Amino acid sequence: MNLIDEFPKISTGRLNLREINLNDAKPLFQYWSDIEVTKYLNIDPFINMGQAVNMIRLLRSLFPRKEGIRWIIVRKKDNAVIGTCGYNSWVKKSSRGEIGYELGREYWGNGYASEAMKEIIDYGFNVMELNRIEAFTVPEALRSINVLKKYGFKKEGILREYGYWNNQYWDENIYSLLKRDWIKSL
Ligand SMILES: CC(C)(COP(=O)(O)OP(=O)(O)OC[C@H]1O[C@@H](n2cnc3c(N)ncnc32)[C@H](O)[C@@H]1OP(=O)(O)O)[C@@H](O)C(=O)NCCC(=O)NCCS
Repeated sequence: MNLIDEFPKISTGRLNLREINLNDAKPLFQYWSDIEVTKYLNIDPFINMGQAVNMIRLLRSLFPRKEGIRWIIVRKKDNAVIGTCGYNSWVKKSSRGEIGYELGREYWGNGYASEAMKEIIDYGFNVMELNRIEAFTVPEALRSINVLKKYGFKKEGILREYGYWNNQYWDENIYSLLKRDWIKSL
């Protein structure tokens, strides 16, 4: 069987990454409605559970169409759902994917995002056969930029007033990591 026919499960030292399902709506609504988590996230904070359910349906639809993969991040020691990460888009023709991630605020500062990112970058290059992984992030999102820089993502430029959420336009930086750079960094 092709490795990519079934939704991939990934295990790291402290985390399990698995497919999101509707049972995850409660903790995800908590994170997606938190103004601190969503501040730089390209969405307005959610105000009702129905929005979380719709988002979960959307994220679940990516993998069967091979248009992206979004994992839920579960902490092994207590099975807590701590956030999500994955590829918001996957363009097979040019072997390119856009990475994204968020954790509940109470889980920041423990290295969990970096731990998950390392594995999904590796998965992107080696199983999805990506050549380029890109990330969009606002210049103020220092924690996010810290994760990207840790793995060698390079800033390519600023997309002026590229996004609109929270009633304003936002500049977004575009970062990328190429497979050959990742191989070099191992
Ligand atoms: C972006 C986001 C996921 C980063 O989370 P984070 O917890 O700050 O990121 P990390 O997992 O890399 O953890 C960082 C810090 O944990 C600390 N830490 C504690 N224990 C650690 C451990 N065992 N291993 C590694 N780091 C550890 C370190 O100080 C580390 O900082 P450093 O990399 O400067 O050394 C989080 O801030 C978030 O969800 N933000 C809102 C959503 C968002 O902006 N998403 C990105 C959109 S592009």
